[in-house]
Amino acid sequence: MSRERKILELKEKIEKSKLGGGQALIDKQHQKGKLTARERIYTLLDENSFEELDAFKLHGCNDFGMEKSKVLGDGVVTGYGSIHGRLVFVYSFDFTVFGGSLSKTVAEKIIKVQEMAMKTGSPIIGINDSGGARIQEGVDSLAGYTDIFTQNILASGVIPQISAIVGPCAGGAVYSPALTDYIFMVRKSAYMFLTGPKIVKSVTHEDVTAEELGGADTHATKSGVTHFTYDDEAELFAGVRELIKYLPQNNMEEAPILSSQDPINRIDEDLNYLVPEDTNKPYDMHEVIAKVVDDGVFFEVQKDYAKNLIVGFARLNGKSIGVVANQPKVMAGVLDSNSSNKGARFVRFCDAFNIPVITFEDVPGFMPGTAQEFSGIIKNGAKMLYAYGEATVPKITVITRKGYGGAFCVMNSKNLRGDIVYAWPSAEIAVMGPKGASEIIFSKEITGAENPAQVHTEKMEEYRDKFANPYVAAAKGLVDEVIEPKVTRYKLIKALEMLANKREDNPPKKHGNIPL
Ligand code: HXC
Repeated sequence: MSRERKILELKEKIEKSKLGGGQALIDKQHQKGKLTARERIYTLLDENSFEELDAFKLHGCNDFGMEKSKVLGDGVVTGYGSIHGRLVFVYSFDFTVFGGSLSKTVAEKIIKVQEMAMKTGSPIIGINDSGGARIQEGVDSLAGYTDIFTQNILASGVIPQISAIVGPCAGGAVYSPALTDYIFMVRKSAYMFLTGPKIVKSVTHEDVTAEELGGADTHATKSGVTHFTYDDEAELFAGVRELIKYLPQNNMEEAPILSSQDPINRIDEDLNYLVPEDTNKPYDMHEVIAKVVDDGVFFEVQKDYAKNLIVGFARLNGKSIGVVANQPKVMAGVLDSNSSNKGARFVRFCDAFNIPVITFEDVPGFMPGTAQEFSGIIKNGAKMLYAYGEATVPKITVITRKGYGGAFCVMNSKNLRGDIVYAWPSAEIAVMGPKGASEIIFSKEITGAENPAQVHTEKMEEYRDKFANPYVAAAKGLVDEVIEPKVTRYKLIKALEMLANKREDNPPKKHGNIPL
């Protein structure tokens, strides 16, 4: 064969491999409103940056007539490229090849890029649209999944791992995304569940659609399995690109510092008036965050789940920060099991990847009641304590209003190795709120009084005057400084600068035993 013919043959093979299962199935994918595996990669990565690996790899199954249908590259497209000029690895299931099902070959291709991402210390993004284990390959497929899970576990806390769910993701296949740091999901065409509606019907007799059982909104609002939800794939991949901006390449690096035009000493007078004088009146903590961070830009994580706690990424003077904030607008910002799980996982992610944590605190306490106790609020609340306490990244708190009881301890208090705790003059820091406290410590005076309601009100005021302020805590050094709200941005930036070279270690151990 001539040299020219050989080059032509190569070109033809490349073109063929790009068609995956063929044009008819590509058209079918488009008719469903879905992108193909390659289109997804091109949408995600910087233009012309994708370098494909294993495009000619074939499956090795010769049962059930499979030897007659071998598609170049099999059911996944893998390789590397860049996002905002930074190296990332990617794998994208190709639904046009046996429904993107996982063969031994598909698993080997994925594991190869997982290992390369680890070797080079780079984020990895998995794009999921798959019918699950390749049924014709049986146990090989199960072993392949398990090898992928093992890589996910080894990479956890070393490189950022991100999953996009843009089609079916069912059975044990859900566990690879679940082991990664962030799950992005698209509405309507994506679902995740362990067992589908038919099996649910036969086992629990429930009638449920795939969308209700495992659609994007279900996981965004009810289960908390996912972190970001979008209406279409283009928006979803733009979201992944946005998240990457806040992250370092790996656990040995810092997130990139972007240049910021927002003045570090920008004063926001509105902040002085944001907390209502009536301590039981809600306000929106999002407004506080927006007024403090660079250009008001906040990239919220799990925004539709456990809304009583807000978590997400922002920047202060160009430096990436993780924000954790009680939301007085939802359930008065109380901590419950779901918000504790959400907060603890986020703090641990930030700590693993050297992202300082800024906490805005307005918390009346932990949620009482049987529902919470039975849901394990004790162990779930302990996760928050554990996550904050073990974190060695710079940790700064701003107490805007309430800091009561155990919830005060949890929200990055000084005694949990919080580095700097600021309080606004509106802060109320005490073991419990004035109403409950006065009922307990003045119970004899109240019940023995001629007018118990009046005495209760007086005693409540007495308690409020004494404790419902930041100065008792400041006098004991539990608050480093009481600040005017309008200078919060400047104070946080200065404290972050001061903490830039912070070094703090935990005792040597194999790993801790977080109360899971
Ligand atoms: C082999 C598969 C496949 C699979 C789909 N296909 N899933 N081939 N193994 N798991 C093939 C179909 O036969 C079909 O081939 C093509 O992919 C497209 O599938 P359709 O059914 O036409 O597509 P659609 O109607 O969109 O339905 C998608 C689907 C459905 C809901 C995913 O295909 C489905 O239910 N598949 C089986 C899902 C499943 O039970 N998987 C195993 C789960 S157990 P043709 O040739 O007709 O085009 C598991 C264990 C993992 O995953 C454990 C890990 C620890």
